[in-house]
Amino acid sequence: MTATKAVAVAHSNIALAKYWGKKDEAENLPAVPSLSLTLAALRTRTEVAFDDSLERDVVLLGGAELSERPLERVRDMLDKVRSLAGLQRFARVESQNDFPTASGLASSASGFAALALAATRAAGLELPPAAVSALARESSASAARSLFGGYVVLDAGARRAEPLFSGSHFDLRMLVALVTRGEKATGSSEGMKLTARTSPYYPAWVAEAPRVYERARAALTARDLPALGEAMEQSALMMHASMLAARPGLLYFAPATLALIARVKELRAGGVPAYFTIDAGPHVKVLTLPERAAAVQSALAEVPGVVDVLVSAPGPDATLEP
Ligand code: PMV
Repeated sequence: MTATKAVAVAHSNIALAKYWGKKDEAENLPAVPSLSLTLAALRTRTEVAFDDSLERDVVLLGGAELSERPLERVRDMLDKVRSLAGLQRFARVESQNDFPTASGLASSASGFAALALAATRAAGLELPPAAVSALARESSASAARSLFGGYVVLDAGARRAEPLFSGSHFDLRMLVALVTRGEKATGSSEGMKLTARTSPYYPAWVAEAPRVYERARAALTARDLPALGEAMEQSALMMHASMLAARPGLLYFAPATLALIARVKELRAGGVPAYFTIDAGPHVKVLTLPERAAAVQSALAEVPGVVDVLVSAPGPDATLEP
């Protein structure tokens, strides 16, 4: 055989309790525990083929060939898979997101999860999900969580994520309000390094994050949306506070980000259970009940600067296509 091929599908995830900062930079181990929800509506499908006839790795994302740093990150993972499998061949990788990538929307989580699963299988390896999660984590810690559906945890210093509850434990909706991006944002790894090195608030974040994580986890266990939402918002704001105090300050918010936060608070004042979180970008994600999702979606869509609002139910495990 001259080519071996596999196709994997993985869903993105949004952290309810955030990860920011590394315990070990070389090994990419997280400094704080995180808790996420995998999203059904944000999907990456990745095909990997190891092929004798290739003279280098070729990687296409949404039909466009990757180069420089994005290509290097994929090649790093392919090299690890080749050395695990004792394989010499180069690979052709074709990946598609079914959500807008230009927005820089959490695509590394689903992307590296799908790549780890497809590449290991295409190389002839049959690893347990925990081992694939560990491999994905080396490229992007949040990707470790995308191997699993529903609610997922990644402990401080952990090598792999672990599923906590399936989505049916607490059937919530996550809305993703996409905001027009101005200048290119600082990547998460670079942002974390800058925060850890220069922010006087970074030690406070690392000290407090486990407590916020425990509050979010207990609220999720009890299916208590107001308590979960409160912990989720504090986790996001505390993480951003640590970034804002870096030198130079790391500011991911756009004007529409703040307008969306204000809108969420208004909704809440009007009796709608809606809670926000924000990652390393200007978009705002809002957690609510299924029966409130349509009303929250229209309210967020009216905010100036919002280009689209996606609605997602909890998503499944990453899988291989037959
Ligand atoms: O795993 P990375 O390097 O893409 O970092 C993810 C960081 C946040 O999205 C801001 C938080 C998180 O826990 O997903």
